[in-house]
Amino acid sequence: MYKDGVLMPRQGQGSLLTGVQPFPLTALRHPAVTTLLEDHRALLADLLDGLGSPLHVVLPEVFEENVAGLRQAFIESGADVDILFAKKANKADCYVSSAAALGAGIDVASSAELVKALAGGVPGHRIGISGPEKDDTLHALAVQHNCLVAIDSISELRRLAATARLADRRVRVLLRSRTSGQPGSRFGMAAAERDAAVGLCMELAGHVRFQGFSFHLNGYSPGERAMAANEMIEHCLDARRRGARSAELVDIGGGLPMRYVEPGLWDEFLRQNEPAHYHGTKASRGFSFYPYGGHSPAEAARMIMSHPVDGDESLSAKAARNGIRFLVEPGRSLLDQAGFTVYRVQQVEDRRDTDGYAIVTVAGNSLSLSEPWFNTDYLPDPLLISAEPAADEVFPACVAGSTCLENDMVTWRKIGFPRPVRPGDHLVYFNTAGYHMDFLESRFHDTALPLKAVIRLGDGGASPRWRLDGI
Ligand SMILES: Cc1ncc(COP(=O)(O)O)c(C=O)c1O
Repeated sequence: MYKDGVLMPRQGQGSLLTGVQPFPLTALRHPAVTTLLEDHRALLADLLDGLGSPLHVVLPEVFEENVAGLRQAFIESGADVDILFAKKANKADCYVSSAAALGAGIDVASSAELVKALAGGVPGHRIGISGPEKDDTLHALAVQHNCLVAIDSISELRRLAATARLADRRVRVLLRSRTSGQPGSRFGMAAAERDAAVGLCMELAGHVRFQGFSFHLNGYSPGERAMAANEMIEHCLDARRRGARSAELVDIGGGLPMRYVEPGLWDEFLRQNEPAHYHGTKASRGFSFYPYGGHSPAEAARMIMSHPVDGDESLSAKAARNGIRFLVEPGRSLLDQAGFTVYRVQQVEDRRDTDGYAIVTVAGNSLSLSEPWFNTDYLPDPLLISAEPAADEVFPACVAGSTCLENDMVTWRKIGFPRPVRPGDHLVYFNTAGYHMDFLESRFHDTALPLKAVIRLGDGGASPRWRLDGI
């Protein structure tokens, strides 16, 4: 039962029920992932043995395919769009190298991310810097490397201009504006400050090259993103009327949705979902989920650009008519299917007779498989890899991390495994590259951070090649 998109307990449901049949929420799989799991299982087992559990497998070829697919979707929509990969979604270096090789840019939000983008071969002019109220070190690097800086306030603009003056350079800026749909956001400038910032950019033109506007928008609605982009086009046109002729760029941010499971299955999941399907009482206090069965990134790109913004005129048509170019900063969606995570099962506590389900404890913790969506669970079913044959009955179990925290649950939801889970088995979590791998990773208990193995399948029947990321 849902209220405002949040799973709520049913009336009078104090404690959780036992014996509930788990719902199979099968994860979508890229053919490269299927090939690895079906034809190269021994390699994956060796890597897990040698490199430790959990192991993140990262697949730059899939990332490269995603960049090409998204570019194509934007080209077909008639819009002029440059892609900057939002690096925060995964710390692996391999994606930066892939972006550099494809001539794509990178969106960074810290000096460390900027340095990694440059070291990975991305030229400064293809790097965008977002993040609120950036510090002077990041400003200085941005000025030095000709990066595009999204400015959050008048005071940040003054600081950046002073840094550029000192370096005797001109820095490229966007002004981050609040949208009328989310006026209470802590990011960006409200109307009066934005107007003053445009004026200040013109005053400081010797050191500031004002290029346009960006915005922050929570959520995954293509229509809302299109309407926010339209507001930024209007701000560009206003700025031009005031004499700022170089206002020609609108950064539509990230937030393209991606699809982990088939939409029909997702709808069915939402219909039947209830707190009794989860371990403990956490779900009964209300869970909220990422929309795992949403649009694909390419679909969303087309929907944004074809959205009518002025009468019948689409966003892309209005932009083209006014000489506006776009930037987009996808993080999660460019990592769609570009990695997965494998845990080794450490112990299984069979509570089927008392509680109706087992607790599978894996080597590693839930911070290595996080959903950056507060109060939630990573929902798609993991795949059990085991030497046992399939059984007649499903084996219901939730999955716990091996820390001493009660809440360290990798999967709160009871999964219907096709056979009993045993110590030494492997659990594969699909599609984990977008934020799930390292967003919250922790060295709690003095454990090492999980490693990332980069695997390339290459063309034809050659054996996959692997290496550690960052080496
Ligand atoms: C400024 C900015 N750009 C891009 C992104 C990436 O968003 P997503 O991973 O949803 O595409 C974010 C997310 O926090 C962001 O704040």
